[in-house]
Amino acid sequence: MPAGEDSLAHRRHVWSRVIPQSQYSLTNRLDLEKIFGRNAPLHVDLGCGDGSFLRAVAHSMPEKNFLGIERLHGRIRSSERKTVDQSNVRLLQIESSYAVCYLLPAGSVETFYLLFPDPWPKRRHHPHRLVTPDFLNSVHVALQKNGVIYIATDHLDYFRKIQDIAESNSSLAFAELDVELPPTGFELIFRQKGTPIHWLVLRKISPVK
Ligand SMILES: C[S@@+](CC[C@H](N)C(=O)[O-])C[C@H]1O[C@@H](n2cnc3c(N)ncnc32)[C@H](O)[C@@H]1O
Repeated sequence: MPAGEDSLAHRRHVWSRVIPQSQYSLTNRLDLEKIFGRNAPLHVDLGCGDGSFLRAVAHSMPEKNFLGIERLHGRIRSSERKTVDQSNVRLLQIESSYAVCYLLPAGSVETFYLLFPDPWPKRRHHPHRLVTPDFLNSVHVALQKNGVIYIATDHLDYFRKIQDIAESNSSLAFAELDVELPPTGFELIFRQKGTPIHWLVLRKISPVK
C-alpha cells in the first residue's frame, strides 16, 4: 500500500467521528458515555446534512456532546470531513425517527435540532414527513427535563402542520427562540433567495413517563 494511502487509513481510523458498528446495536439504547468517552449534556442534530451546522454549533459549545444523525452516506462522509477536528462530535448513519424512538436513552437529550427537514410538498408524499404525533412523543421521551427541540423550515404548510401536532401534545410547550444558532447550509441558501424561515421551539414540560 502506498505511504499516502496508509496514512489516510490511519487518519480515518484515529479521527473518524462516525460511530463504528461495534459500538452500537439496533436493538439496544446507545451507551453514550462509551461513545463519547465522557459524560456531558447531549445535543442531537437530526438530518445533519453536510455537517456545516454541526461543526459550528459543536465548536461553540465544547462542553456539550453532539450527535449528528443522517440517513445519506455521502452526507455522513461530508459531515465526517467537516468535524474531523471536533472531538465532541459523533455521527450515526440511520433514520432519525428510529434513532429517537429506539436508540436514544429516555431523558438523555438536552437539545434536538431539526433544521429544514425534508418537506415532502406533494400531498401523496406527506406520509414520508418526519414530524408526526408519534415522532413528537418519542422526542418528549428522549428529552431531559426542560429539554428543547428547535425546528426550522422554509415550508409554510409543513410548519403549520407541525404547529398543529405540537399543540395537541400537552407534554411539550411552545417556547421562545432564545439563542442565536449558526446558520445551516440550507438556511444560507434560503436566506440568499429571500425565502421566509419559520421557527418553532418546543420545551419539555413534564417528566418522562
Ligand atoms: C433539507 S436537508 C437539511 C440539512 C441540514 N439540516 C441543513 O439545514 O442544512 C434535510 C436532511 O435531512 C436528511 N434526512 C431526511 N429525512 C431523514 C430521516 N428520516 N432520517 C435521517 N436523515 C434524514 C436528508 O438526507 C438531508 O440531509
